[in-house]
Amino acid sequence: MSANYETIELSTDSNGIAHLTINRPKKLNALNNAVLDELDRAFDQIAGDKAVKGVVLNGSGDKAFVAGADISELSGLNRESGTAASEKGQQIFQKIESSSKPVIAVVDGYALGGGTELALSAHMRVGTPNAVFGLPEVSLGLIPGYGGTQRMTKLIGQARAADLILTGRQIKAEEALNFGLLNRVDEDADSVAEELLKKIFKNGPVAVSGAIEAIHAADSTSGFKKESEIFGKLCETEDFKEGTSAFLEKRKPDFKGK
Ligand code: COA
Repeated sequence: MSANYETIELSTDSNGIAHLTINRPKKLNALNNAVLDELDRAFDQIAGDKAVKGVVLNGSGDKAFVAGADISELSGLNRESGTAASEKGQQIFQKIESSSKPVIAVVDGYALGGGTELALSAHMRVGTPNAVFGLPEVSLGLIPGYGGTQRMTKLIGQARAADLILTGRQIKAEEALNFGLLNRVDEDADSVAEELLKKIFKNGPVAVSGAIEAIHAADSTSGFKKESEIFGKLCETEDFKEGTSAFLEKRKPDFKGK
């Protein structure tokens, strides 16, 4: 598999497993536009590559899977560009979720905001004991905009999703496992993910693709549209400017509620 990417790494092993790594460790693998575009291209490449039977998705370094959307790019958004940014993220994550080849996210360290949302778009999640999940967007004056309000609610239920999305609190691997957010927790999460894929590869590939399609067929599109609209509207609030500026200036936000 050719490797003409700058912010991700993609290679295929002899078992037919594509290893896709988000590679911006100095920024804790935050999802800027370049990463999103390369993820989009990578999943097209994976779909068209007969040698690939499944995907392990992870982040480089030992500190983070992905620490969210890149806040330095978010901070300049307005209603129109904010709605468009949310729709773009949703489309790419939708592509991952609807991949006919199984995708397993391996989470070691922080999976925050867009990082949790990226993990949610995989078909399964395996964490190390150091995995940390959270949807802290409300602390920036925003809401999750890459499908997180929809997928989290569907995966762990409304009450638990509200707990995470409204408080923005972080949860560790054990709680994530209890919530059903993680499928497995293991020190050697990479190997566990590879073993899961190898088990899947023993089954009929057409049936596996059909099962993935059927599992996700119940998704409603109206909820995603509502998420993008609210995300865009929030990009015009003073609270959003304050929340993102405070993060970038390394201080606590002072929200005025407008
Ligand atoms: N967007 C842009 N840059 C980010 C980022 C993000 N989401 N998350 C981390 N970074 C950058 C930091 O700004 C810092 O850059 P610098 O070294 O140039 O100053 C670098 O990554 C390391 O992060 P730092 O905050 O110094 O590490 P930490 O160990 O003190 O804290 C986190 C780790 C994950 C708790 C913290 O980085 C954080 O809260 N990140 C934002 C999480 C978030 O709100 N995500 C949702 C976005 S929608």
